[in-house]
Amino acid sequence: MSGPPVIDTPIAIAPAIEFEPHAVRGRFNAAFFAVMRPYIDWNLRAHKRRVFADLPSRVVELGAGAGANLRHLEPGTTLVAVEPNPYMHQRLRAAAERRGVRLDLRDCVAEQTDLAEHSADAVISSLVLCSVRDPAAVLAEVRRILRPGGTFRFVEHVGAPAGTPTRALQRALRRPWGWTFEGCSCERDLATLIRDAGFAHVAIEPYRIHTPFIPFNTHIAGIAHA
Ligand SMILES: C[S@@+](CC[C@H](N)C(=O)[O-])C[C@H]1O[C@@H](n2cnc3c(N)ncnc32)[C@H](O)[C@@H]1O
Repeated sequence: MSGPPVIDTPIAIAPAIEFEPHAVRGRFNAAFFAVMRPYIDWNLRAHKRRVFADLPSRVVELGAGAGANLRHLEPGTTLVAVEPNPYMHQRLRAAAERRGVRLDLRDCVAEQTDLAEHSADAVISSLVLCSVRDPAAVLAEVRRILRPGGTFRFVEHVGAPAGTPTRALQRALRRPWGWTFEGCSCERDLATLIRDAGFAHVAIEPYRIHTPFIPFNTHIAGIAHA
């Protein structure tokens, strides 16, 4: 007698998103962001202070880089740092040690972290959604790992309004800019993407900084509640 038919149920497995570190540009970016940290932070500090205020004692950071946001964490905080560029790791470790932050470094991409569902009270990012390969997938991942009521706090640079000279420059420089800064785009409409990502509540403030890096001058900062 033959038993019930065996049915092969296909299991949907999302393709892994790879981050391929570049030996030269990976090192260049690690050094660039470490050297430029005081200057970038000086330009963004008021917005960072506002959105990164009162963080809990365990924080997940996407694309933590060389540690630009450690100064916004209380000493003793545990920082779960998602950072796939290995050339950033040494500077990040040293900076965390200097500031008394406990580092839990995860060598994975923000689109697919190894963090458990609903395991985080706060996720932060600065200047990362411009660089990730799939920002919509990152925002879905943020929602997956945040507990209900948890917050995603972000400081990001975005595309200028269409038709403006800044936008024209962002377009003209997109290839050399993206090549130098490992996939960074100055043209993303991240505010719309975050508003459409399914958070319970989103507050976003657009602002402009004034630097010689004109494609980098249009920004948003905000908090999204899961
Ligand atoms: C422009 S740097 C910003 C670093 C830091 N957040 C800061 O404010 O100085 C972008 C960072 O995002 C990281 N990154 C790029 N793609 C990523 C991805 N898919 N997932 C997580 N981090 C990523 C890069 O390695 C780099 O550290």
